[in-house]
Amino acid sequence: MKKSIVILFSGEGTNLENIIRELHGKEFGTLQIHVACAITNKPKANGIKRAQKYGIPVEVLDHKKFGSRESFDAELVSLIQKYNPDLTVLAGFMRILSPVFTSKINSINIHPSLLPLYKGGTAMKDSFESTMKVAGITVHWVNEELDSGEIIDQESLKKSDSETFDSFCERMHAVEYELYPKAIVKILKS
Ligand code: GRF
Repeated sequence: MKKSIVILFSGEGTNLENIIRELHGKEFGTLQIHVACAITNKPKANGIKRAQKYGIPVEVLDHKKFGSRESFDAELVSLIQKYNPDLTVLAGFMRILSPVFTSKINSINIHPSLLPLYKGGTAMKDSFESTMKVAGITVHWVNEELDSGEIIDQESLKKSDSETFDSFCERMHAVEYELYPKAIVKILKS
């Protein structure tokens, strides 16, 4: 059974690249996964080169060219529907999505905190600065409320008092690279 995904990203694209490397053209039992396309809202995103390296088509939809959040989301929905994916995967896609998007597109997101703690764009820093002894990563369904959809999977890591923010980020990313492809396979198999 062949299933396809579309990946949305805005920046560096290390999760995007990791998902392509781990899943594109690969077989998991009877499931074969195809990354149909990667879409970015940022014309200069580094992830563009990362996706192209693997021959994945990249579509650029610059949100600055749209007059409203809803008009951008409507165009994004049409673009995704063109590829007719089984699942849409957000990987560092830095946009708040309106119901125009969430009512039409079945999508998941990865977030660098143990949700429901630390929603929003500063989650990595919030997790690092928190007095908690653990931090972690969440994969969740996307709904109309930011970082609030049903949790699919989470993985925690022990914090170390002596570590720098950079090393913390590196360890958090390593957890993301393990967790996200596994979650995608599990969803596509179900
Ligand atoms: C990741 O930390 C992810 O959890 C968050 O945005 C970051 C994207 O990093 N949503 P990259 O672009 O995949 O390198």
